[in-house]
Amino acid sequence: MTERTLILVKPDGVQRGLSGEILRRIEAKGYTLVAVELRQATPELLEQHYEEHVGKPFYEPLVEFMLSGPTLAIVAQGERVIEGFRSLAGVTDPTTAAPGTIRGDLGRQWPTKVLQNLVHGSDSEESAAREIGIWFPGLA
Ligand code: PPS
Repeated sequence: MTERTLILVKPDGVQRGLSGEILRRIEAKGYTLVAVELRQATPELLEQHYEEHVGKPFYEPLVEFMLSGPTLAIVAQGERVIEGFRSLAGVTDPTTAAPGTIRGDLGRQWPTKVLQNLVHGSDSEESAAREIGIWFPGLA
């Protein structure tokens, strides 16, 4: 079933020059890039994007990190792309993410509390529709 997902290359990935490598992996897997845009997030946009995490202990550091530089926002399309991209990304923690995944191969363990894990991918069809609407209102 062809579907779309919202992928973010977070500020650590953009700053480290990994946008091209991450786009390469998405395309090499056979997914189609529908939209790619370098954006500076705002607190308002992040509050919508991370609405289910507002108030959690990691929320404020996460927002501070996401405001620290530009983010590459991507909409990708393909068969089962939502599940497929999360598989390409690897688990949340870059230290335990499997080799072969974006986080496992490229993610670094920094001596900070905030997790800098390179990418975000929507976790369900419902989240994908909601997140694409936030980052690319014209595509919703
Ligand atoms: S939860 O509470 O189980 O739903 O959290 P989880 O799914 O693991 O993570 C939700 C998003 O928050 C990010 N996260 C963090 N960021 C910074 N620091 C810490 N400690 C931290 N813990 C979780 C995590 O990367 C998820 O963001 P996205 O953008 O989806 O990767």
